[in-house]
Amino acid sequence: MSAKKITVVGAGHVGATCSQLLAMKELAREVVLVDIAEGIPQGKGLDQWESAPIEGFDTRVYGADDYSLSEGSELFIVTAGIARKPGMSRDDLLRTNAGIVHSVSEEIKRVAPEAIVIMVSNPLDIMAQVAMEATGFPRERVIGMAGVLDTARYRSFIALELDVSIEDIQALVLGGHGDTMVPLASYTSVSGIPLAQLLSQTRIDALVERTRKGGGEIVAHLKTGSAYYAPAAAAVQMAEAIVKNKRRILPCAAWLQGEYGMEDLFLGVPCLLGEGGLRRIVEVELSDAERAALESSAAAVRSTIEALKALT
Ligand code: APR
Repeated sequence: MSAKKITVVGAGHVGATCSQLLAMKELAREVVLVDIAEGIPQGKGLDQWESAPIEGFDTRVYGADDYSLSEGSELFIVTAGIARKPGMSRDDLLRTNAGIVHSVSEEIKRVAPEAIVIMVSNPLDIMAQVAMEATGFPRERVIGMAGVLDTARYRSFIALELDVSIEDIQALVLGGHGDTMVPLASYTSVSGIPLAQLLSQTRIDALVERTRKGGGEIVAHLKTGSAYYAPAAAAVQMAEAIVKNKRRILPCAAWLQGEYGMEDLFLGVPCLLGEGGLRRIVEVELSDAERAALESSAAAVRSTIEALKALT
């Protein structure tokens, strides 16, 4: 199973990595890479297509500076924007990226009114809302990439700490994408063994803290940009669940309508992804402390929305 056409908007670090991964996994017959930077999408698209004979994929990769080739795309992965620089919070990106995502969303609506949108641009939860409002798409078709990345970071740190395979580590991270994310230690296990039986609370707390600051840790190393391999892998895993109708339960940013006692905001929650996009939000039991952490994460998202409204 694969899509006929997937478009990746933004041919920068995250976007170009997405299109290469989509092609290598043959998740669509055609992948279109769109960017406003002159020559970049065409050059990267052609370069990726030239890797096809070596990698053995039949996905055609195209690059374009407009949306004519994207007409009828079933799925869009939106990575357009400016990346976070050292010392810059995600919210600093707010105004610029909101304008970019708004204009991109209008193009998506024009060329592919039935498409599903996976939002990647930051600040994520807010950009997902901008896209949903600008496209007018239902919540099933606008989903934010946050939790898959945050969970992957958490799992990768647990694997290092315990020196075990990442394949055996299951974890759940809820909340907004950022410093207020809520890693759920109670839903973390290694081959079914609760994490608390394998690590002390102090070590778990340290891993949770590292996960919260995972994006910043990469920025501190790179200095001139932010993470892209893991973010792209995360977005492509969501795309795969949708185009193959896998019905995976993945933590994603979804528009809440009463779930977890909240409504009218995007927040990271377990989502069942398959044909049509978001099929269901799964509600899990939370301890009082976890619920309080989720509430404060939601408050941070709401305050960024207010900040954006004040800016525009
Ligand atoms: N339409 C299409 N592409 C655009 C537009 C636009 N209106 N505006 C900017 N872009 C492109 C830029 O030209 C650039 O090539 O988006 C690309 C962004 O690429 P990078 O600067 O390399 O940023 P990247 O690291 O890929 O991050 C992109 O993902 O994880 C998030 O925080 C990150 O919001 C950022 C986004």
